[in-house]
Amino acid sequence: MTAPELTGSPGLSVLLDPADLRAQLSDDVRKGLTAPEKWLPPKYFYDDLGSELFEEITRVTEYYPTRAERTLLHLHATEIAALSGASVLLELGSGSSAKTRILLDALSGAGRLSGYVAVDVSQGALAGAVAMLAAEHPGLPVEAVVADFERDLCALPVPGSRLVAFLGGTIGNFAPRQREGFLSSLSAALWPGESLLVGLDLVKDPLRLVAAYDDAAGVTARFNKNVLRVLNRELGADFDIAAFTHVARWDPYQEWIEMRLQADRAMTVDIADLGLEISFRRGEEIRTEISAKFRRAGIERELAAAGLSPQGWWSDGDYALVLAKA
Ligand code: AVJ
Repeated sequence: MTAPELTGSPGLSVLLDPADLRAQLSDDVRKGLTAPEKWLPPKYFYDDLGSELFEEITRVTEYYPTRAERTLLHLHATEIAALSGASVLLELGSGSSAKTRILLDALSGAGRLSGYVAVDVSQGALAGAVAMLAAEHPGLPVEAVVADFERDLCALPVPGSRLVAFLGGTIGNFAPRQREGFLSSLSAALWPGESLLVGLDLVKDPLRLVAAYDDAAGVTARFNKNVLRVLNRELGADFDIAAFTHVARWDPYQEWIEMRLQADRAMTVDIADLGLEISFRRGEEIRTEISAKFRRAGIERELAAAGLSPQGWWSDGDYALVLAKA
């Protein structure tokens, strides 16, 4: 295992190259769309257009998590930085890094900031974000790592004692068993005393939850359908995107939101690069995302089971930040 080295100017290391990503996409699509209950992993939403649409989602009235998280970070970043005792911020799924600077400023205010590492599957998102942060913190060693954070955790750089931030509620995209695996790999990748900060959306009134995933302006619908555009482009598929309807549904037993794409009519879709024909019945659905919602006791139990001991909880009742230590 070779840890990528930090440099004074933004360095980029690639643990996941485009060929890996394409092989993974092919496997995932073949597996998901030939399953009796069709599904696709949510990570393929985020091409350039999808990332832009997600940014747009964070600004629609109904989608509260981003605003809630930003407010909580503004209120509590100083305390979080102090409790973490970290000198390096490592952000998983950093995306546009909009919230990163709040944590960086807090660590830097505590006088011990010595590095920032951004980890994302999207090289495009990383390049922009990291250049911006490097400009704001001249001299700060900044590293961008293109990686799959489900797979590459133990290969991430350790340039100092880290605060690993996994924000936005992205942990909700994991199914429970996958989440357990992720938390225990993360726990294994951390040195004793290093910290994890997770942003979590909480269980609440289902009407508000469904509205957050089915906004009136239809931005989330476009975001959801974008995954079919990605398959058309990347795998030579011929999905008729207009023939699918966006569905957001609350599952009260699993306590998660599901996003689905429902076929408006029976059809056959050709996925040329996979040599695959997929048929849909009228009304048949593809599950494109789960977004789990949490309760404090449940997530604290899961963290502890992974060997991460909860150190702090900050919430506005809708959304929460939880800090845990390895
Ligand atoms: C980026 C995974 C946190 O689950 O709320 C937003 C993605 N999907 N609207 C979420 C998303 C539909 C978002 N995460």
